[in-house]
Amino acid sequence: MSSPVPAPAPPSGLHYWDAYWDHRPAECPCDQDFVLWLDEMAVRDAAIFHFGTGGHHHVGIECARPDRRNAVLGITAAPKELDTFVELAIARPDVLRHYNVLFGDIYLLNSRLLPVFDVVTLFHLCEFRGEKNDAYGGMTDLDLTRLLTDHVRPGGHILFFPGSYAWARANDSAKDVVAAWEEGAGVERVGLSRSLLVYRKAA
Ligand SMILES: C[S@@+](CC[C@H](N)C(=O)[O-])C[C@H]1O[C@@H](n2cnc3c(N)ncnc32)[C@H](O)[C@@H]1O
Repeated sequence: MSSPVPAPAPPSGLHYWDAYWDHRPAECPCDQDFVLWLDEMAVRDAAIFHFGTGGHHHVGIECARPDRRNAVLGITAAPKELDTFVELAIARPDVLRHYNVLFGDIYLLNSRLLPVFDVVTLFHLCEFRGEKNDAYGGMTDLDLTRLLTDHVRPGGHILFFPGSYAWARANDSAKDVVAAWEEGAGVERVGLSRSLLVYRKAA
């Protein structure tokens, strides 16, 4: 009798973030600096994709103010951060009108479900991707950056966060991903704005 074929290994499940990030601008100023950049650029009535909402939802709440009216689609991989979004949505329909949050792994984003954005943030590029994402065929950071660039309108902006711990580390750095992406992506480097690095897609 031949030996039985081994059953396939069970899937390891989603690489979600079993943590919660409150607003700590002294440590992680990207979200705060992003809102300041939006105001300096007079970005109003725009469509924004935001990677990493935090449990504080600062970007969504600020963008929903009547003087900004920016529509934000945020993504979180943290169930506890989704919980605070649900609480926010129930308490503040005025915010919900402008701000929605997806729970999921950004490396599984499906292009067919995405609209065209005026602005995309990729502050946490390379911070949370690893073998667990590989196990279910998640995109690479470069694939993700290219995919979201495809969903930015001509003349729109893509922002990175060089203050990230993953920006200039020895391996798998966001800086290297951005350098590879920049070539042939049809973007121009605008420069630094506080803690953020800004690119503009060719018009
Ligand atoms: C350190 S927190 C920063 C939050 C916020 N941007 C800030 O600076 O305060 C990282 C964020 O990235 C999100 N995140 C981590 N891995 C993710 C993934 N694979 N897909 C989507 N979001 C992810 C977390 O849920 C969390 O909201």
